[in-house]
Amino acid sequence: MLAKLRDLSAEQAKAVAGGGPKYAERHHRRGKLLARERVELLLDPDSPFLELSPLAAWGTDFPVGASVVTGIGVVEGVECVITANDPTVRGGASNPWTLRKTLRAADIALENRLPLINLVESGGADLPTQKEIFIPGGRVFRDLTRLSAAGVPTVAIVFGNSTAGGAYVPGMSDHVVMVKERAKVFLGGPPLVKMATGEEADDESLGGAEMHARVSGLADHLALDEHDALRLGRRVVRRLNHRKPGPAPGAARPPLYDEEELLGIVPEDLRVPFDPREVIARIVDASEFDEFKPLYGESLVTGWAELHGYPIGILANARGVLFSEEARKAAQFIQLACRSGTPLLFLQNTTGYMVGKEYEQGGIIKHGAMMINAVSNSTVPHLTVVMGASYGAGNYGMCGRAYDPRFLFSWPSAKSAVMGPAQLAGVLSIVGRAAAEARGQAYDEQADAAMRQMVEAQIESESLPFFLSGRLYDDGVIDPRDTRTVLGLCLSAIGNAPAPAGPGFGVFRM
Ligand code: COA
Repeated sequence: MLAKLRDLSAEQAKAVAGGGPKYAERHHRRGKLLARERVELLLDPDSPFLELSPLAAWGTDFPVGASVVTGIGVVEGVECVITANDPTVRGGASNPWTLRKTLRAADIALENRLPLINLVESGGADLPTQKEIFIPGGRVFRDLTRLSAAGVPTVAIVFGNSTAGGAYVPGMSDHVVMVKERAKVFLGGPPLVKMATGEEADDESLGGAEMHARVSGLADHLALDEHDALRLGRRVVRRLNHRKPGPAPGAARPPLYDEEELLGIVPEDLRVPFDPREVIARIVDASEFDEFKPLYGESLVTGWAELHGYPIGILANARGVLFSEEARKAAQFIQLACRSGTPLLFLQNTTGYMVGKEYEQGGIIKHGAMMINAVSNSTVPHLTVVMGASYGAGNYGMCGRAYDPRFLFSWPSAKSAVMGPAQLAGVLSIVGRAAAEARGQAYDEQADAAMRQMVEAQIESESLPFFLSGRLYDDGVIDPRDTRTVLGLCLSAIGNAPAPAGPGFGVFRM
């Protein structure tokens, strides 16, 4: 695990480095702050920042981090979603992964009712990949106004370029701060205007901060410099009079067992089972866990606990495979959580639902469907941590990304795919052999062995957490020792939205 964490740090360092020393130094020489420096100055001193998807774009043609920083931080005592373009990476232009990361940040703001603060300096669409982003990218501006309509405040602090579509970020925000002589907000810059209408105009008169503050009225606040802009941004948040609906959490009691030991629980070989109670004991308050149905469906551990004072229900895979009993137990437990309005935490280590004659005849499809139904229609917030395996429909039943958990994090030991690499290659081989036989052809054993090897390597690499995090299939890969802290921050963020109403029927015994 420590070796995997060293790799993780190396990849995260790439995101922090942004466009690299050449562009960072040029940016500083221009008297500007880097994206992360802006975030740090915006936040309350010494308060935590839960950065999201730092590995976005990993394994793609674009730099790790996707030229934008996103996360949840505290400004004037208010938890906010913050996004900051990284102008050292291709001028802060938005590529397809930047877009996904930006849209995810807006979703988090809306679901959890967290004010959204955009720290803007971007060259707009990454022009060579415009076909991937131009049309879907319209959602960025739609989301801003929908947030506002839902009563979730939006703030834009403009440090530099915000042209063309980008001009609608301040355009659609509730509150706008612009930095004097730096912010440039126009639909078309001087060359485009010349081409379109023949008019000669300069940057300042078309979209300078001073012009927007004095003439167009797009800027509410004119900042003297970047530090002043961040100060003004903090004042804006202070005046939102934002209040969390409550109830406030109880006192947080640390676990009795050492969180450091979370490094040694997941075996190197995921086929070796481990007891998730070992994990639960190291993340929940006072290591107190009240199990529900401990003697029934023992491959899935369910029960109640508190985490940083917040009540939670936990579903954790124990022996990998989910049988009918586990599915029924999960469905009943989820209904109970909805009745009591208790958020759910899914700790994934599953190879999926049991296959085979006996289980199909026993109705494993129906029972798996029951569990997936309960997860899909559950009204309480969900959190998911992929500790180990996440294969097949187990990924769905245990609230994978497609089931919209409020937050989903992976450990470096996680692996996720439709099935294991060896099984997948084996299935392809059996199918290929049967197809050849049906055509009356001899099966090429040598080609089969090569194919299996290639497919296995491909599936293995595609099931690893950096790859999946790169595609925004989680909100980040975390150090297992940080699990309690990360989940505590998430539960606190979730507490900004009022508790959802329970379903309109009683609990069915499963
Ligand atoms: N798409 C793709 N690449 C872009 C880009 C964009 N929209 N904007 C900038 N880049 C690239 C540049 O080509 C340059 O690459 P290089 O260093 O490999 O040559 C790198 O990003 C840095 O750009 P540079 O112009 O040196 O940075 P700057 O800080 O001096 O200026 C901008 C930044 C954003 C003001 C300027 O690059 C610009 O005007 N870009 C185009 C803006 C635009 O019209 N976008 C269309 C919006 S829909």
